Amino acid sequence: MKFQFCVISLHITIALALMLLGDSLGYRLIKEVLKTSSRYTITTQVEVRNNAVRYKRTSRLRQSSVEDAIADDEGIPAITVAEGGGNGSTGFPEVRRKRVLSGVQPTGSLHLGNYLGAIRQWVSNQDTYDNYFCVVDLHAITAPHDPKSLSRDTIQAAAMYVACGIDPSKSKVFIQSHVTAHSELAWLLNCITPINWLERMIQYKEKALKQGDNVGVGLFDYPVLMAADILLYQADLVPVGEDQRQHLELTRDIARRFNDQFCNKRGKRKTFKEPNALIVKEGARVMSLQDGTSKMSKSAENDFSRINLLDSPDVISSKIKKCKTDLFKGLEWDNPDRPEAKNLLNIYQAVTNRSKEEVLREVGSMSWGTFKPLLAEAVIAHLSPIQHRYREVMQDEAYLSKVLADGKEAADLIADQTLGWAKTAMGFYLPKAPLKLLK
Ligand code: AMP
Ligand code: TRP
Repeated sequence: MKFQFCVISLHITIALALMLLGDSLGYRLIKEVLKTSSRYTITTQVEVRNNAVRYKRTSRLRQSSVEDAIADDEGIPAITVAEGGGNGSTGFPEVRRKRVLSGVQPTGSLHLGNYLGAIRQWVSNQDTYDNYFCVVDLHAITAPHDPKSLSRDTIQAAAMYVACGIDPSKSKVFIQSHVTAHSELAWLLNCITPINWLERMIQYKEKALKQGDNVGVGLFDYPVLMAADILLYQADLVPVGEDQRQHLELTRDIARRFNDQFCNKRGKRKTFKEPNALIVKEGARVMSLQDGTSKMSKSAENDFSRINLLDSPDVISSKIKKCKTDLFKGLEWDNPDRPEAKNLLNIYQAVTNRSKEEVLREVGSMSWGTFKPLLAEAVIAHLSPIQHRYREVMQDEAYLSKVLADGKEAADLIADQTLGWAKTAMGFYLPKAPLKLLK
């Protein structure tokens, strides 16, 4: 180990010297070093304290397949050497904060599963990473939708991101359809994605079954659009609920296939970065209030199966009062015959921010009748400041429009760059000069 690092440091010193002399060999040498040490992820952490910048280099064994990444320690920005890049060998590797991208569909209102599985971790990690959060409205039309409510649902979802704690000064918030590169890259990726990869997608099979005869091509193609969403931003991490793991694996497969097919010449930089899933342990799968074995979802017909983030205290209480329970005594987490108990304890733990042990000590011996009002109270207390902030944000239209315009502008910059790289790698003839405007 020590020997390997001495060799690596020596290589880096020589490479930096060559780079200073303007020699592209320096860049290639750095790339070689990163490749040789491919069993390790070398991370540089930069800490700014009292106006002094300190660099700390650490190494970690790299995982081979999709592994949940662990949020980096102590709020120090996690830095990465970006792999995605152009088609030449002259550019230098870009050193930047790890980038996070995620999104939620604006189909109806957001629920506790979206919040605990996804949005809450976007918020808690936003100081650490370079964040891009979009409202994925193009995904919302993959099932039959109502044009009258799409734009309202979209703006409400964006307001909800901010109400849940996404701070636009730290994170970019935008609407997917405002950044046209998403649709365009999806088409390019469609043409290199084998149909049988999509036929394996569990979510497609489940949703197609629900939609009966009315299944559009978009539903089948949805994971390719999701791959485009992620790959456009060279995202390192994608915080999602457990149900999206398979789509993340597919995204990595598509990125690898594209890179292998179009960027395999010596010296060519890869177009796409392979992202990692960021999946929390608690809240990764919030289940229906009516059936502890199926996921809480926006599309379930019965509104009593979910807690919407905008439900009033009365509605929350009555949904929890009427939720499915069992005939066992007391409450326990790990009894496979008690999925409802596990789900409600998970929710209680998540909204009270306590450990499993603390929760069991407090409520383990309670009956359902005593536990349910306690749970309702905890959920209401957790959601109430979010609902309050939501109303404020919704009333300030100018503010929200500005947030979304800034988000789009920042997103366009990165997305257009990656799209350009992808088109160049595939051999498209790109315009050389700006097009003249029609009079
Ligand atoms: P969707 O509502 O399908 O757009 O999902 C948006 C995000 O919420 C994704 O990251 C999902 O994994 C997450 N999510 C959706 N439903 C649940 C659930 N019941 N439990 C945990 N996470 C969920
Ligand atoms: N498919 C995701 C879901 O239904 C939503 C989504 C679309 C997404 N594009 C994304 C999530 C990109 C993360 C990153 O939950």
